[in-house]
Formats: sequence, C-alpha cells, structure tokens
Amino acid sequence: MNDQSAQPQEANDDRVAAAGQFVREAWYYAMPSSGLKAGHTIHRAMLGEAVLVGRDRAGGVFALRDTCPHRGTLLSRGAFDGREVECPYHGWRFATDGRCTAIPSQTSDQRPQPADVRTPAYPVRESQGNIWIYMGRRREHLPPVPEVPGVGTRPKLTIAMLFDCDIDLAVAGLMDPAHGAFVHRSALWRDKASIHQKSKAFSPISENGTVGWRMDRHRASSNSRAYRILLGGAPETEITYLMPSVRIEHATTGRYTYGGLTACTPIDATRTMVHHAMYWDVGLATALSPIIRLVAWRFLDQDRRAVEHMKDGLAFDPPTMLVRDADTQVRWYYRLKRELLAAERDGRAPQNPIESVTLTWRS
Ligand code: FES
Ligand SMILES: [Fe+2]
Repeated sequence: MNDQSAQPQEANDDRVAAAGQFVREAWYYAMPSSGLKAGHTIHRAMLGEAVLVGRDRAGGVFALRDTCPHRGTLLSRGAFDGREVECPYHGWRFATDGRCTAIPSQTSDQRPQPADVRTPAYPVRESQGNIWIYMGRRREHLPPVPEVPGVGTRPKLTIAMLFDCDIDLAVAGLMDPAHGAFVHRSALWRDKASIHQKSKAFSPISENGTVGWRMDRHRASSNSRAYRILLGGAPETEITYLMPSVRIEHATTGRYTYGGLTACTPIDATRTMVHHAMYWDVGLATALSPIIRLVAWRFLDQDRRAVEHMKDGLAFDPPTMLVRDADTQVRWYYRLKRELLAAERDGRAPQNPIESVTLTWRS
C-alpha cells in the first residue's frame, strides 16, 4: 500500500467513474426521531426522490413515495389522520404501506379502483433516535442500520446542515485527516504549530453486505483538545466509515463515553444533507449542551465551506491528485463506491478490496 507510483491516476479514474451516481442499496439517514411526532408526515428529498416520512398513531414510522400516483401532487401536503394520508388535490387516500384505499371521483364500474393503485413504500428503521430509509430495490435480507455502540438510545443533540455539493465531496470532508489545522483553526483548538506526524492502523469492514473501514482503536492524539474538554481526559477512540454515507466515532475514557454519528444524504446530484447526532454520558457535558451545539455547528460549517470551495475549484475541471497517505481514505471511498455500483449492476454482494494497513501523515 505504500508504493508511491502511478496510483493517483487510478484513483482519479475511480472518482470520475463514480461521479454523479448514487449507491441505492443502502440505508440513508432521513431525519432525527425527535423531528417527527405521532400523526404527522414530513417531506424529504432523498437521492432525487420525493419521500413522505410519517409516524402513525401507534408511533410507528413509515415512508412512502411522496408523489401522488394520480397526478403527482405531494401527498405530504395533504391531511394525515394517523392512519391514512389524503392527497390534497382529489382526495385519493393511502394507507401507511402505500395501498390506495379511496378514489372519490370513480364510480364503481370505472377503472382504476383503489385496489389497482399504490404508491411505493420504502423500508424504514428507527434506531437510537435516528430514522433511516432504505433507498434500494431490495426488500429482504437488508443490512442492519448503522448504530453507535454503547451510547444509549437517544442522541443528546442533533444537527442538520445543507452542503451545496454532491455526496462525494461532502463525504470527502468527513474523512480528510489533514485539514484540521487549516479549516478548523482556532486559538483554543488547533493551530499549525500543533501539526505532528501520526500513524494509525486501519482495517477493512465487510459485514452483512455493508463495506467500509475502521481506524482501529487508539489513544486520541495530543492535539484533540475537544475530547479532553468533553470527556475530561485523553480517551481511546475508534472511527468507522460505513459506505456509502456514514461515519461513526466512538471515544471512551473507560469512565465516560462519547459517540458521534455523521451521515450524508444526497438531496439530489448537487446538494447533500449532512446530519450529525451526538451521544455522551457525561453529566457536565449535558449542562453545556447549548455550547457544544454551537461548537459542533461551527465545526460542521467550517467543513461545509471547505468542500464548497473545493467544488468551486473543481467546476473548472482541473487535474488533481490524491497523495499518500493523507488522501488514502478518500481513495478508498471512491474505490468502494465504484465497487458498490458494480455490485448493484451485477446483482451480487460487494467485495472489499481494502487491506489492513498503517497510514502515516502529518496533521
Ligand atoms: S393528484 Fe392526488 S388525488 Fe389527484
Ligand atoms: Fe473537518
């Protein structure tokens, strides 16, 4: 993995080959549970599709294609009585599994009748205060939804931010290890003088059709001041990337634990929603929650600006390079995305070509 030759071109090919396409056979983050009350529906645009996310009377979450099969009106703009959605235009009604239950304008001898119509339903899961929607065609043997281990069932806070770029750039911003001292520069936090060489061990993940990689558990580096403030000591941390869109960070001092889940959901080919859910079990941190929200929001906003600057440069289609080892994870992302797209096309399980390796960089 440490040979320096000819790889940038190959990586660039992966990037170009995967550009403008969505991996569909995957769970995508729709919204935090706290944003959806029983008896309500909400509209989400995900992977270029209109999605209605709803919570029925009994508290169960469901998701339907939000465009009415009649003439395309957004169903989420209509009434929901906790059991059926009613289109606001001509009153066609749909059960939470997508079956049509009423077409008021039809006489009994006309076609279609309600039994002939449905709006597609998406698989949905709710876990740890997050709502996930499966955007692929598969309906059986779905992989488990991403979870943060050992941090409880509810996030202490969630943030959602619109990135004005495609999912690839948004994701690149999450796995780039070399931008901290420049993008997140701050007197309190990080500065250029804090940059030093580090080596981290990585291993591949390949479980139940989910592929990705893990930065193995290691002692947090001395310039991660955020952890020290939050957890009151230098924790051991582990970072997991699950393709195509989820990064999970887990840090523990033994006494206290922090978990962070960041998920990128394409709205369409040019815009991405980035959701960040934070979990912790430190009492003091809960009291400081408004400040933590501000700081986390600022961090994410700095990442957003950084990748939008990149997008504006890439609009000129310049030659670029991915260097070793700082850009290796971005290269893995493109490699795996290309593999996932190929596996979807061929109807097979994805392979993970990543091998265990130690990467070295300065940051
Ligand atoms: S458009 Fe929905 S009922 Fe006509
Ligand atoms: Fe960042």
